[in-house]
Amino acid sequence: LVAGIDSSTQSTKVVVCDAESGDVVRTARAPHPDRTEVDPERWWEAYRTASGSGILEGVSAIAVGGQQHGMVVLDEQDAVVRDALLWNDTRSAGAAADLTRELGGVSAWVDAVGLVLVGSFTVTKLRWLAQHEPDHAARVARVLLPHDWMTGRILQHGNGFERWTTDRGDASGTGYWSAATGDYRLDLLELAFGRRLAVPEVLAPSAPAGRTSDGMLVAAGTGDNMGAALGLALSPGDVVVSLGTSGTVFTPHDHAIRDESGAVAGFADATGRHLPLMCTLNAARVLTAAAGMLGVDLDTLDRLALEADSGAGGLSLLPYLDGERTPDLPLATGTLSGLTRTNATPANLARAAVEGMLCNLVAGVDALRDQSVRVERVLLIGGAAASRAVRAIAPALFRAPVVVPRPAEYVGVGAARQAAWALSGAAQPPAWGLRVDSEYQVPAGDTSDVLERYAALLAQMHGR
Ligand code: XUL
Repeated sequence: LVAGIDSSTQSTKVVVCDAESGDVVRTARAPHPDRTEVDPERWWEAYRTASGSGILEGVSAIAVGGQQHGMVVLDEQDAVVRDALLWNDTRSAGAAADLTRELGGVSAWVDAVGLVLVGSFTVTKLRWLAQHEPDHAARVARVLLPHDWMTGRILQHGNGFERWTTDRGDASGTGYWSAATGDYRLDLLELAFGRRLAVPEVLAPSAPAGRTSDGMLVAAGTGDNMGAALGLALSPGDVVVSLGTSGTVFTPHDHAIRDESGAVAGFADATGRHLPLMCTLNAARVLTAAAGMLGVDLDTLDRLALEADSGAGGLSLLPYLDGERTPDLPLATGTLSGLTRTNATPANLARAAVEGMLCNLVAGVDALRDQSVRVERVLLIGGAAASRAVRAIAPALFRAPVVVPRPAEYVGVGAARQAAWALSGAAQPPAWGLRVDSEYQVPAGDTSDVLERYAALLAQMHGR
């Protein structure tokens, strides 16, 4: 048996799989605080709770898939200096703009690390810390990502800790590691923080980070999106749309992507290849907010959205409820537009919420198309992939058939697959196939009006 941990923004999940077939054998989950800054010990406590009931019995190898970009800072004694600042914390948006200017503009960053800086990336959080919390900054000796810290914590607890490690996939989201060259850019870390810091060793995709004293192998781990990509065992032409706390669109790719528009980040993946990715701050929680506004549960929201016609009678929602990252509008708010006496119905409002959330992701799929990525089908994962309305409405908007895989725990499954790979010592990850739950074809009819209204609203927001 092998185990994968999904250390996400809201909870820690442990997924135990059969190392040969990839079948999920058992899972457990424990919540931790769902904020934009969190004491890493809360993740560890959630992991201890989730794994406490003996779920790791018989497990030979484990790996962590963690939320990307979070800044975990340690002092000389490896104690956490302050709460981790997470990917969805937008306070360092100003630092992103400053750093962009200081290095010589957007293309200088894209050349250096494949990213157009936004407040999500670790390097901008380091600048924010140096500027706003000089006492904390003075104590920092080392910077890690959430999955690096969890991996080290598991090894420390199991008396197998030798050194802090990370992997290519997660390192590529820091802003001081280049997916194109496979090297750290500590000069950029220094530009941001004012001095160099210790950083974790970047392990090869199937290399172990260590072994606990009772023999459990701990694999390199990776970022959650890279973990999901590994868990899904994707084929060429598969594009993943993940609708969780964040919304992401990604696909495995042979070479590093270079997108100066900032829509697509040039990340690495967990197999030695690349994972061009678009990320929005507004996904599943748009639906929860809409349901809350209507005073209904998510099931009823689905039913209402499916009662309305495509286009929601002219109602559009630009769903920037948590600010936005793609496009880079950290202070943006949501806009509901096109209300009239006749279209102001709960059904149209529910439909506009589902369409608005999806249009945000369609922009991501189209940004990949602009990078010459072939989109043959969209794999829908994450909490909101369970929504009947999302499944029904998505194919027309994405202009591609939609597949919903099973089971639901792809990040954990991907981390478990990496653990199985490290355990096998083979050149390739084990052949765990994609399991399809349901498929949805592109219906007849045209949804370009929905997309056009959404684009017009976005243009208005940019003009503000
Ligand atoms: C990706 C991103 C998010 C987090 C969520 O760039 O910031 O998807 O990884 O956990």
